[in-house]
Amino acid sequence: MTYIPYLIVVASYVIYKLLHYVQLQQRAKKLGCKPIKHIPPRNWLDRIGIYEIVHRKELMQMGKTFELLEQAFARAQAKTFQGMALFHPFIMTIEPENLRHMMSLAHFNEWNIGYRPKAFGILLGDGIFSSEGTQWKHSRVMLRPSFTKENIKQITKMEPFAARVIELVKLKQGGVVDMQDVFQFFTMDFTTDLLLGESSDSLKDALGQPSQTGIDPELKRQFSIAFDVSSNYLMTRMILGPLMFLVNPKKLQDAIHTQHKFVDYYIEKALAMNADELNEKSDDGTIFLYQLAHETKDPVNLRNQILSIILAGRNTTSGLMTFLFAQLSKHPEIYAKLRDIIRSDFPNVESITFDSIQNCDYLRWCINETLRINPSVPFESKTASVDTTLPRGGGPDEKSPIFIAKGTRIVYSLWVGNRNEEYFGENTGEFIPERWEKLPRNGGVAFMPFSVGPRACLGQSLALTEAAYMTIRLLQTFDSCESHLGPEPLRKTSSATMRLMDGCNLCFT
Ligand code: HEM
Ligand SMILES: *[C@@H]1O[C@H](CO)[C@@H](O)[C@H](O)[C@H]1NC(C)=O
Ligand SMILES: *[C@@H]1O[C@H](CO)[C@@H](O)[C@H](O)[C@H]1NC(C)=O
Repeated sequence: MTYIPYLIVVASYVIYKLLHYVQLQQRAKKLGCKPIKHIPPRNWLDRIGIYEIVHRKELMQMGKTFELLEQAFARAQAKTFQGMALFHPFIMTIEPENLRHMMSLAHFNEWNIGYRPKAFGILLGDGIFSSEGTQWKHSRVMLRPSFTKENIKQITKMEPFAARVIELVKLKQGGVVDMQDVFQFFTMDFTTDLLLGESSDSLKDALGQPSQTGIDPELKRQFSIAFDVSSNYLMTRMILGPLMFLVNPKKLQDAIHTQHKFVDYYIEKALAMNADELNEKSDDGTIFLYQLAHETKDPVNLRNQILSIILAGRNTTSGLMTFLFAQLSKHPEIYAKLRDIIRSDFPNVESITFDSIQNCDYLRWCINETLRINPSVPFESKTASVDTTLPRGGGPDEKSPIFIAKGTRIVYSLWVGNRNEEYFGENTGEFIPERWEKLPRNGGVAFMPFSVGPRACLGQSLALTEAAYMTIRLLQTFDSCESHLGPEPLRKTSSATMRLMDGCNLCFT
């Protein structure tokens, strides 16, 4: 008879679960929700959501994450479907209304950013990228003025770095260069210069030039390396979610220490200045750190924000440049057209201004077409903080709302969504800048490479200007760009941002 108490416990649990289920069903019905489509499992591994984990190695090596995802939507015959990941249901969607709903101010508090704060907090603390609620709001309000158009107009600051990129390419004398690496150097060097007033100088390193600096040159060199080492661990932590405590090795702690030491050096210098000195040294208010030092004297807060901005702005922007040039190298006729337009619109370096970039339609089409076909941030994801709904995906026509239980993760795939012919015209698998002639100026409701709503990208304008500037300078200089990339589809991988697994090997002449 000793098993009776256990039976009672089990029975109560089952009854509780059943009642909860019935309750949810009733609520869903009252809200006008209809059933969501399910992706048919291929096997038992799929059924419990560990197929991708078991086959992780092979799938990674194939480098076809995104192509397979496109097939998954085809298999589900849906634009919104439910699947299983690690014993948990999740929802995948390419319905723009669903993403806009989750990101909107009206529904902001119903959703959260999942494990990001915990996974990234060990590097970024509660900086803008890894915080929520009032802490996030504070950061957003404090950082916003640094990203104003006036500042971004200061594009003359890009020139030294663009010039070094060109020098590096010329050094190869028509040989093959991995431009993915070079653009990574560019974005890191420019971003550190803009934020801290001194560049990480990885381009000078690659050129074998000494970097004049007050900081220990070895610490400076180690910074970029440490940044990538830690990013990789932090992404793994994010994927592991509740098991992330398993990933906190000494290598990660050392990398974090190096980054903190580097940034703290500049913060200490800034905090030692009074308001007048800050103004004087701030280069017309263009250096972020000197602007932020007017707002807060808290060195840890300053460090969290600076590192957050580097993390958010670096691979994303270099990814845009990399994929643009990969496409241009595969389409010599587009390269030639863009080159001729650029050489007539921008005859020299001085003619490149914020406004003249805005007025060069074909350049902006090429950049937006890249963000469409190879979005730097290929996924957007939110987790439900409460039981709630999404407007699309219910019923056979998927036009009704669906019910979302608290804790469910929603993933929006930009890669697949950006290929939807309903919004982007024909042949969406191909790079055709001319399609933008017929699209709305902002790309339409489905075009959201920088996300939307209160938490949309702060650096959009800066990123587009950086990519345009670098493109103009390269096309002013080089007549052609030959592809040494592998066969299509190119192998790609994605942590938070998308990258080419085999590099971006190009030959400029
Ligand atoms: C092509 C380049 C870029 C793309 C595609 C991009 C995309 C995005 C996206 C999708 C988000 C939202 C992430 C989320 O919360 O789910 C975001 C946030 C953010 N981005 Fe960008 N970004 C780019 C460049 C930049 C640059 C250059 C900077 C700054 C130097 C920057 C700074 C930020 C910051 C600070 C946030 C966090 C905003 C917040 O949480 O309130 N980004 N970006
Ligand atoms: C940025 O790219 C590098 C590879 O160049 C990678 O090691 C790192 O994890 C990426 N960082 C982020 C935040 O995605
Ligand atoms: C490119 O996209 C951005 C939004 O990401 C938009 O502001 C801009 O107007 C677009 N440019 C063109 C030429 O459509």
